[in-house]
Amino acid sequence: MVKKNWMFVSVKQAKPVIIIVMLVSFLSLWMLLPTRFANPASAGYSLESPRLAAKSLYKLDIGWPKFPKYFTGQVFGVAVDPVADIVYVAQRGESVSKVLMFTEHGYFLKGWNTTTIELPHGIFATNSSPAPSVWVTDVGNGKYGHTVKQYTPSGTLLQTLGTPGTPGSDLYPLQFDQPAEVFISRKGEMYIVDGDGGLNNRLIKLAEDFTITWVQGEKGVKPSQFYIPHSVTEDTVGRVWVADRGNKRLQVFDAASGEWLGSWDSCFTDDAPYSVRLTSDNKYFVVAQLNINRVIFLSVPPIGDIGNCLKVDTIQLADDVKPHLVDVSRKTGAIYVAEIGARQAQRYVPNIRK
Ligand SMILES: *[C@@H]1O[C@H](CO)[C@@H](O)[C@H](O)[C@H]1NC(C)=O
Repeated sequence: MVKKNWMFVSVKQAKPVIIIVMLVSFLSLWMLLPTRFANPASAGYSLESPRLAAKSLYKLDIGWPKFPKYFTGQVFGVAVDPVADIVYVAQRGESVSKVLMFTEHGYFLKGWNTTTIELPHGIFATNSSPAPSVWVTDVGNGKYGHTVKQYTPSGTLLQTLGTPGTPGSDLYPLQFDQPAEVFISRKGEMYIVDGDGGLNNRLIKLAEDFTITWVQGEKGVKPSQFYIPHSVTEDTVGRVWVADRGNKRLQVFDAASGEWLGSWDSCFTDDAPYSVRLTSDNKYFVVAQLNINRVIFLSVPPIGDIGNCLKVDTIQLADDVKPHLVDVSRKTGAIYVAEIGARQAQRYVPNIRK
């Protein structure tokens, strides 16, 4: 009975099996053919291909924000909350809101003021529990300056790192001189680049409890020395990338030990890197070059091989736009660019290839 049943099933399945075998053989033969016709779509995705230049990776979202009239000052920084639908924009100037909040669709949420920010420089949004917050680096000389401060999304000061109003180089207690930017990893560890032309030229890593894990750098041109470390990010394989602005290079460090891993300078002969962030697909670094009004895309190198930088795409902005710092939405893939010269933030979205 059992045997008969098996025979019956086997005969019934024979037809589809033969069809599958034929299909597989045909496909394997076709793959081996040297002259199979080119697939334009797959050619477009091959980033090493020079033909790619024809189509940019990102395009301007002209609909963001819906009402640009909210920009009233010099836009220095942008930050995208990794979870909540909030894009923060930090402004400088007389009689302007220090921070503006938009949605990723471009709707204005609110702006806020605080007397505790003198001159905002870098801004970073985090959503680690229990609530979202935003960090601002303050390069001002007033009584709240030379600090890195955490705010609620609506502008209530939560905590301050550094010694307000006092530039310095001490680590215990921690002091900064014009801290340029902060970046917080998914593990909640913080990287601070200190600073934007003051006493210090260093990269500081803090643990989640804000104790110092390691410090790298001093002023200079040698490996792991800096001149105006301006922006910092961590990639997905434990490497920390610093835009070493004054030395016109990106330097790379091991996230765990702080050990120097390498440096890229060949992409920055025209202008220094001002910012560094990863695209949401983790394939490229987004780097702003303020003086030549460009945003460039560099291939993220494989593990264990920093090599040389490879530029795969460029967004050329208009004269005097002056892109300063950028941030990337992990949710939508959009890139936000803070433009000091144009006094606005702009949004670029992945260009879907056909
Ligand atoms: C912040 O203060 C400036 C004046 O210094 C004012 O023009 C602006 O409307 C204020 N913004 C908010 C959201 O209160």
